[in-house]
Amino acid sequence: MARGAAFLGSEVAILGGAMSWVSERNLVSAISNAGGFGVIACGAMTTALLDAEIAATKALTDKPFGVNLITMHPDLFALIEVCASHKVTHIVLAGGLPPKGSIEAIKAPREDGGGAKLIAFAPALSLAKKLIRSGVDALVIEGMEAGGHIGPVSTSVLAQEMLPEIADQIPVFVAGGIGRGEAIAGYLDQGAAGVQLGTRFVCGTESIAHPNFKKAFIRASARDAVASVQLDSRLPVIPVRALKNAAGELFTAKQREVAGHLDAGRVEMMEAQLQIEHYWAGALRRAVIDGDIEHGSVMAGQSVGMVKKEEPVADIIASLMAEAASALEARAA
Ligand SMILES: Cc1cc2nc3c(=O)[nH]c(=O)nc-3n(C[C@H](O)[C@H](O)[C@H](O)COP(=O)(O)O)c2cc1C
Repeated sequence: MARGAAFLGSEVAILGGAMSWVSERNLVSAISNAGGFGVIACGAMTTALLDAEIAATKALTDKPFGVNLITMHPDLFALIEVCASHKVTHIVLAGGLPPKGSIEAIKAPREDGGGAKLIAFAPALSLAKKLIRSGVDALVIEGMEAGGHIGPVSTSVLAQEMLPEIADQIPVFVAGGIGRGEAIAGYLDQGAAGVQLGTRFVCGTESIAHPNFKKAFIRASARDAVASVQLDSRLPVIPVRALKNAAGELFTAKQREVAGHLDAGRVEMMEAQLQIEHYWAGALRRAVIDGDIEHGSVMAGQSVGMVKKEEPVADIIASLMAEAASALEARAA
């Protein structure tokens, strides 16, 4: 892990994957204070909100942390400036390939010397190579076991396809479905510089997720964390992995209803697609903050079955590291 930790400036190369509404000042500072690397989820925040969140996080930790920005955000470049004004050391860009000029803006030298380090998501080997050529400093490869928005390929296959080709060029962090340290040891063995976990941190004592959200995690098993399904090729659905609930069933019904309206010519294609796209608007907040785990989106990865109780983030990181260390020692013996 030394390479990943040196890149992040943390004690251990475990990134707390940014989770909208969950990864705010409390969880992020707790992860960084425990030796990991917390990442603020900017999500749809305004520049003013991000500014306040970074300042509040700095007040809770003097350890390094990062900020996750979504490429589709209309104010992406202004958000990059907010990060620069706070001398944020690492930016994680999620939600697709970095738009033109964003890599340069993030890495542009600042008063304090260098610019921020840029971590990007690489969904396939060809894109990873392209991202490396365009100057990203590190990559996250995230499999479909993960919670939240997902791609189609599993973590184990992505790791096998990509690590041998790129792990010697830049640090690569593996994400998706990691619940225990033995799995971390396995990916390190394959050449990863570190890992990124989301689901395992939701029930950290310091996480502000609603008690209902945490209870749902503690009760759930791996098979309850399902990917949303697209019913009609005319109505695209970006797959999201979340716990099964009423909202998921109603989403299926909604797709059927809108497809029916399309068939009958009662609605234009554009309007139909927007209805599907907007269905989940505000749904994660409803579950994480309001605690409505039936009609909100309870995003969770398959590792949710390994979340057994609420416990301090430091204990979660300590267990992961102990499991990883004993796995590596057993192999060396
Ligand atoms: C509730 C929740 C919300 C998430 N929100 C985001 C997000 O806003 N941006 C992002 O890049 N990833 C998001 N993710 C993905 C995590 O950052 C992380 O990559 C993922 O959880 C790792 O897989 P795991 O859940 O199997 O540990 C989210 C995941 C969860 C569970």
